[in-house]
Amino acid sequence: MNLHKEKIIDMLENSRETYLSGIEIAKKCEISRNMVWKYINALIEEGNIIEKGRKGYKLVTHNTAISSQKIKKHLIADDYTFEIFETIDSTNTYLKKAAELGAKEKTVVISSHQSGGKGRMGRSFYSPDNSGIYMSVLLRPDISVNDSVLVTTCAAVSVCKAIEKICDKKTDIKWVNDIFLDGKKVCGILTEAAINLESNKPDYIVLGIGLNLYIPQNGFPDEIKNIATALFKDKTEADLYKNILISEILNFFFNDYKNILEKDFYNEYAERMFLIGKRVKVLSQNEYVAEVVGVDKDFSLMVKNDNNEIIKLNSGEVSTSLY
Ligand code: BTN
Repeated sequence: MNLHKEKIIDMLENSRETYLSGIEIAKKCEISRNMVWKYINALIEEGNIIEKGRKGYKLVTHNTAISSQKIKKHLIADDYTFEIFETIDSTNTYLKKAAELGAKEKTVVISSHQSGGKGRMGRSFYSPDNSGIYMSVLLRPDISVNDSVLVTTCAAVSVCKAIEKICDKKTDIKWVNDIFLDGKKVCGILTEAAINLESNKPDYIVLGIGLNLYIPQNGFPDEIKNIATALFKDKTEADLYKNILISEILNFFFNDYKNILEKDFYNEYAERMFLIGKRVKVLSQNEYVAEVVGVDKDFSLMVKNDNNEIIKLNSGEVSTSLY
């Protein structure tokens, strides 16, 4: 957003109940009254409701929606393509179709609501209106299918770092791709790939991130209300930070993604793992209980069974639950 325009909306926001005169705004921004008029009209066009009266201007409703302009303001790179929706079935499904039609790497699809949000293992992802960030990112990396897990783990670290930077809150990672805040899930990641069978490499990967911003008015549905949480206390706080949070997730992610095979984010992942030392139920063909001892450099989970044998678990084959 243009700096003057941003300053004007901030000034209007801060003087919510009273009118601000054109002369006052012009003076503070060091621009002409004509320019103030131009910026006010641009702000109205962007969906803000501003009353124009004899005494000047008054903000009625600030458009707090997710917008590519607001996101771009804090992005390090400028080679993204954004598609922003109010509602969609699933950003992952939409982006997979776009990828088949040739969409470019770094196409980012974000929606304020998903009617058919998808989670891992065929589950659904609760995506109510405006109370979360539902985002998918298109990647076309030159890596093997086995290395695709790096996209998920790199994204998990990026989400944690963005939350730490913007909200100053400490989050943990539950192997392999759930982000936890105060012991409850705040974010899930679903990575879907189209594999080229000849090269055994992904043609493309769609990285889907679902982050709960605030608990919806009627609460979470019964199935998840004891295990899910949100980042902010209410909508006002969420609206203030959601765009910059998206920018920072992308900044952190693409910083490591450019050398993803170097796994520079490995230590940052390992130190945020909250399963270490805990006993978990391993849900594979034969179910058993084991203690988590760490995460290997290839991001497989290392557990010790009751015979003191160390077993490496691959994220595609098993899932774990606390025992
Ligand atoms: C999980 O927790 O099982 C993964 C949840 C992933 C949800 C995100 S929201 C954006 C993207 N679109 C989807 O339909 N799913 C992912």
